[in-house]
Amino acid sequence: MERFSKISDSTSFIKQLKEEGKTIGFVPTMGALHQGHLALMRRAKAENDVLVVSIFVNPIQFNSKSDLDKYPRVMDDDIKLLEQIRCDVLFSPSVSEMYPEPITKEYDFGILGRVMEGANRPGHFNGVAIVVKRLFDICIPDKAYFGEKDFQQLAIINKLVKIENMEVEIVSCPIVRENDGLAMSSRNMRLNEKQRKLAPFIFETLKSAKEIAAGKNVYDIKQWVEKQFINKKEFELEYFEISEPVELQPINNWSDAKTAMGFIVVNMGSVRLIDNIRIFNNFAVSN
Ligand code: PAJ
Repeated sequence: MERFSKISDSTSFIKQLKEEGKTIGFVPTMGALHQGHLALMRRAKAENDVLVVSIFVNPIQFNSKSDLDKYPRVMDDDIKLLEQIRCDVLFSPSVSEMYPEPITKEYDFGILGRVMEGANRPGHFNGVAIVVKRLFDICIPDKAYFGEKDFQQLAIINKLVKIENMEVEIVSCPIVRENDGLAMSSRNMRLNEKQRKLAPFIFETLKSAKEIAAGKNVYDIKQWVEKQFINKKEFELEYFEISEPVELQPINNWSDAKTAMGFIVVNMGSVRLIDNIRIFNNFAVSN
């Protein structure tokens, strides 16, 4: 595996590969790699000649300094995993390499940027978009792979590619879960033993909501989910929303969209957990 921390070294190496006719599959990450990340990488490796991974804990997408400081950093473990899956190129720049100048760019993602994570984490998607645009410019991917766990991020990236008129193909990959259903996340390692034991309740609740959806209206399902978290002192429900899957706008009736998605954020202590589920496809219930 080739390792670069300088933009110019990384770009000239990748340009050389492209001149040789090789296709580049790219997986941007913030490290603390787990099987969710590795699934994206295996797919990128299978679908392209070269796998490029970036590890960069992007300060401008964090809403608080404490969240940024607490973000796990385990570069040695990450490198071992990348070598195991035969990653070709690792790009892991410093903050000053990525951001030598103050950042002024402001994207407008329209209504997509103003709901859920856009509303609850001001500036977050702008920070994600700025770093992903820079990483695409540096790594020049033919295809870039993103997880559906961060479903709104994926929608933002699709919009970013249109706004910036970039040539990269965005590939969306399903959520990888632990055996007990908890969506894999770098943040899971910050759960204490008790929290970790209880955390699968989040996906259990999403699955139950999906099961009972056909017989209930949208409002009832939202109420039902909210009720499940009342009096559960380990959990603090930040939001549960039922939305269409393109602009992620809330729906009021099942008939408003062909597919409905349930989006949830739950805080367990200082750990913020995000998950989602496809509630229905191809059925419409009148209410
Ligand atoms: P990070 O949280 O490290 O995630 C990197 C990629 O892995 C994202 O596309 C994310 O959706 C995907 N991923 C994480 N957990 C997953 C899971 N359980 N199943 C499937 N995919 C999963 O997302 C980011 O980093 C950053 O915002 C980034 C895009 C790198 C920009 O800084």
